[in-house]
Amino acid sequence: MTKEKDTSKLWGGRFNEATDAFVQRFTASVTFDQRMAADDIAGSLAHARMLQSVGVLSAQELQEIEGGLAQVQQEIDDGIFQWSIELEDVHMNIETRLTQLIGVTGKKLHTGRSRNDQVATDIRLHLRAAIDRIAGELTRLQQGTIELAAANTETIMPGFTHLQTAQPVVFGHHLLAWNEMLERDYGRLIDCRARLNQSPLGAAALAGTTYPIDRAHTAAALGFDRPTENSLDSVSDRDFAIEFCAFAALLMTHLSRMSEELVLWTSAQFNFIELPDRFCTGSSIMPQKKNPDVPELVRGKTGRVNGHLIALLTLMKSQPLAYNKDNQEDKEPLFDTIDTVFDCLRAFADMVPAIRPKTAVMREAARRGFSTATDLADYLVRLGLPFRDAHEVVGKAVAHGIANGQDLAEMSLDTLQGFCADIGEDVFAVLTLEGSVAARNHLGGTAPEQVVAAARRASARLADR
Ligand code: ARG
Repeated sequence: MTKEKDTSKLWGGRFNEATDAFVQRFTASVTFDQRMAADDIAGSLAHARMLQSVGVLSAQELQEIEGGLAQVQQEIDDGIFQWSIELEDVHMNIETRLTQLIGVTGKKLHTGRSRNDQVATDIRLHLRAAIDRIAGELTRLQQGTIELAAANTETIMPGFTHLQTAQPVVFGHHLLAWNEMLERDYGRLIDCRARLNQSPLGAAALAGTTYPIDRAHTAAALGFDRPTENSLDSVSDRDFAIEFCAFAALLMTHLSRMSEELVLWTSAQFNFIELPDRFCTGSSIMPQKKNPDVPELVRGKTGRVNGHLIALLTLMKSQPLAYNKDNQEDKEPLFDTIDTVFDCLRAFADMVPAIRPKTAVMREAARRGFSTATDLADYLVRLGLPFRDAHEVVGKAVAHGIANGQDLAEMSLDTLQGFCADIGEDVFAVLTLEGSVAARNHLGGTAPEQVVAAARRASARLADR
């Protein structure tokens, strides 16, 4: 027996039986695309106003549509809007309610438009607003990072390669390295925004429309820089979503690196920093524990964001032009990426300014690890030794230090001269941590003087945004 024809469907004209109940649920997107309702209404208003300006709608009809859409928005804001799976997606839910409210004029809104250019417009609007919020949070994190750096231009810590103590650096220099990663992320985010900010509205289903539409009108009304060039591309392009997810994956990769360092630094083994209790949690079994949950969770969330990037790349791979239903699958990964990235940035922006460096512990760690060995080698080079020979001499001195539990600066002049007779009393200035960092006094180096200037430049870049 054929099921009875369903007349509630906006596209029901050519159908002879109702949609299978499971297929209806399977193909619906309203459970997740309703978060674009405000964007959908903004797009519809721009479209209706343009239709009126070119004479397709009367002034009276436009007024009715504006009033109806305002009421729909109100119902959504008040939480009383009845979302219906039978109406598939956010677009048809809103249009159907509009028609219930204002009657036949509601049915004219879709003139010269398709859900294909409609959804392409909505996602761009939604993502653009999200990008602006994310850019704000990223800037706040950078501000906090730079301020903490500026307050720690003389705080000595070990710098690492291979996670082995390498050379002393100042903590501010390390923090400004984080800021450089974030600065590049910001640049990528803004690039992505610039490329997405074009209006696909008017592409209609795929080929454009027979009505005398004014695409520049809708583009300007929605704050787009210009209309897109090609109608086929307009309805099928999701590059902007992929590009945003690529930005997000790289940002999360950076946040995961920072997280990893925070986790290490708060451990009893490093003990370099204190994170305030409000960013940590305890253990239900081990009373002594204070766990750095926030950085751990941010580190963990990198996985889902990377996954979303792969999901969108795979979604688009091999899709023929133009719109395909596949693209409905763009939303959940994109929305989750937006939410995850925003929350992680918020957590970091709140947490980073609250980091308390344990300066004595950091300094002692730098002192203990033969971190000025390169400085001794450079000193020997200044005495005339070829660098490779100097390297060899210092290697022997370090081996002696390890065997005797002595750092280089703790050895007597006699002992040091045992490795190279030319070493003089002035060597001790070179072996101090302060001397070591101060000597790296060039653009991008860790000398406190340089770090002060670098922090200033970093702040100036933020002020220019
Ligand atoms: N919900 C759909 C999506 O998210 C809207 C566009 C549907 N267009 C269509 N011809 N079925 O992609």
